[in-house]
Amino acid sequence: MTPFLHTYARYPIELARGEGLRVQDEEGRWYLDGIAGIAVLALGHGHPKVKAAVHTQVDRLMHTSNLYNVGIQRELATVLSQLYGDAAVFFSNSGTEANEGAIKLVRKHHWRRGDPRHEVIVLDHAFHGRTLMSLAMTPKPAYQQGYDPLPQGVVVQEQHEAAAAVTDRTACVFVEPIQGEGGCRPIEVLPALREACDRHGALLVYDEIQCGLGRSGELVHSPAPDIRTLAKALGGGLPLGAIVAAPHLAETFQPGDHGTTFGGNPVACAAGLATLDTILADDLPARCVSMGARLRAGLQATGAPVTGRGLMQAAWTGGPAGPVVDAMRARGVLVCPAGGEAVRFLPPYTIDEGGIDELVDAFAGALREVRGGAAG
Ligand SMILES: Cc1ncc(COP(=O)(O)O)c(C=O)c1O
Repeated sequence: MTPFLHTYARYPIELARGEGLRVQDEEGRWYLDGIAGIAVLALGHGHPKVKAAVHTQVDRLMHTSNLYNVGIQRELATVLSQLYGDAAVFFSNSGTEANEGAIKLVRKHHWRRGDPRHEVIVLDHAFHGRTLMSLAMTPKPAYQQGYDPLPQGVVVQEQHEAAAAVTDRTACVFVEPIQGEGGCRPIEVLPALREACDRHGALLVYDEIQCGLGRSGELVHSPAPDIRTLAKALGGGLPLGAIVAAPHLAETFQPGDHGTTFGGNPVACAAGLATLDTILADDLPARCVSMGARLRAGLQATGAPVTGRGLMQAAWTGGPAGPVVDAMRARGVLVCPAGGEAVRFLPPYTIDEGGIDELVDAFAGALREVRGGAAG
């Protein structure tokens, strides 16, 4: 009998170790990691700088709570603040917690201005997490079923209709600049959303949990939002999320308005700081652009439609993606589905040409095997 609640339909392998782009299962078989812990391991497995930072921090101090100042947390917040225009940062443990906190910040902002608002506009195919508010903002019946009542006030719009739906009642528009779980779909209407939010006094929130920190090829998605949420790559493999708020929101939360025991844990911050320093020092977003272009061209050559940006690409298989993902795993390559009918590629930013070609070859072979060569 399994000791778990049945939340995960796991693939039938157990991963025991990782090195760079590759992971090894318990039986000794190596795989190319094309999914990087679902967009977490920007630098791949066991990057020396991340490991050294974690070891040093573990030896020094593992946890203090947020009752006290935490030096390494401040260092990481300072890098983020500088990166995002003097932003003010709150650290959480996960993406969904960052999104919950962001919604609280949005509501508090309007409440402080004497104009309480709670209506949130989200887009079709969005994924914002699994806690109740994040789930309410994730318009997928299979995920929401059985959890009523979800928090009210979420309005779902097709991207090209979203700007026109913003009114003086809108608290915020919450959007992934490139949707992840929904199928690596770039959102083309961010300028129109920015303009509509400005016109109606609503806030614009970017959920950059999957596409952020350079994976899309851009460190900073524009136009600038009022709030961005980060997680995944932020902790370099350890659990860490963040709300990153524009300067005009820096005073919105006052002591006691929000908090967490573990958020901004020193070891997670050390791993995150080493990761972010490396992403910046090695200009890895540029690498995401060049490697992403190679990946995209290779996938398109199979005849499959491809969507995405940078090292966040989805190849649409013309049927359920699961069998293609399984056939790729049998060929020694790990990927996962997105949007039901797409195979999602989220490799480490450090992947090289050989790794990209291996991903493409495995996809092409698996697609031929499963669909008899027909894609689209
Ligand atoms: C865009 C986006 N938002 C939110 C989340 C939720 O993050 P977490 O799983 O860390 O709670 C995810 C996770 O896949 C995501 O991709």
